[in-house]
Amino acid sequence: MSSNESNPNTKELLKMTGIHKYFGKVHSLINVDFKIDEGENVGLVGDNGAGKSTLIKVISGYHRAEKGKIYFKGKEVKISSPKDSRALGIETVYQDQALAPDLSISRNIFMGREPVVALGFLKKKVMDEESMDALKNMGLYLKSPNITISTLSGGERQGVAIARALHFKAKLVILDEPTASLSVKEVREVLEFVNQLKRKGIAVIFITHNLHHIFSIADRIVVLSHGEKLADIKKKDTNVDDLSELIIRGTIG
Ligand SMILES: Nc1ncnc2c1ncn2[C@@H]1O[C@H](COP(=O)(O)OP(=O)(O)OP(=O)(O)O)[C@@H](O)[C@H]1O
Ligand SMILES: [Mg+2]
Repeated sequence: MSSNESNPNTKELLKMTGIHKYFGKVHSLINVDFKIDEGENVGLVGDNGAGKSTLIKVISGYHRAEKGKIYFKGKEVKISSPKDSRALGIETVYQDQALAPDLSISRNIFMGREPVVALGFLKKKVMDEESMDALKNMGLYLKSPNITISTLSGGERQGVAIARALHFKAKLVILDEPTASLSVKEVREVLEFVNQLKRKGIAVIFITHNLHHIFSIADRIVVLSHGEKLADIKKKDTNVDDLSELIIRGTIG
């Protein structure tokens, strides 16, 4: 098999090879290879501007890579829009833009994917019930599906966004700095939500600057530096100090 082909018999979920992304003269991703298996939890780390968000935005269809290939379950795919990415079962949760703050929990969970039923009130009832089920499934007990997102805590908001991914049977959930600007208690909640995803066999890519958070959830850690992949290490083969040293030095050896 050539190195550009994937084996459909492995449990590999997503593979990217030779990814290049430019923003004008800025070469944000330089020949990056990245893969994640079904149910695997990968921590993506690196200094500010390393290319982490750019890489996941290529996966979620917000950016097109100028060069490189993407395979999903062994088949080459083109991800040209967020819609393409969602159709594959990839859900991206952003720190800020995850939810519409002025809409209810249930409207947020179903945004853009409302069930098709004839009667308006029935549709709302279905959405409300399914929303509460989705939240309970995550261990998140909120009072009503009709409360607006703006009244929830940061941790609860992340919970709603993750519940949405779960409800629509995502195979891969991407979280870009979900714990930034949360309280200690909220961070613990969000890490617990991520563990729930893992227990349900859903693959997770988790971006954060907090290496302790990465160590509490990731199976494998990928380090980017100035647009290049610097390291790809199993958690058991590294520790917080070594990893932090690697990120600061930005080079191996
Ligand atoms: N939309 C854009 N237009 C122009 N340049 C961009 C754009 N998005 C990212 N870049 C540039 O690409 C590089 C990588 O940025 P990226 O946002 O991927 O970094 P990051 O690793 O997510 O950093 P941070 O930890 O600060 O979020 C940076 O030099 C950044 O300025
Ligand atoms: Mg970023």
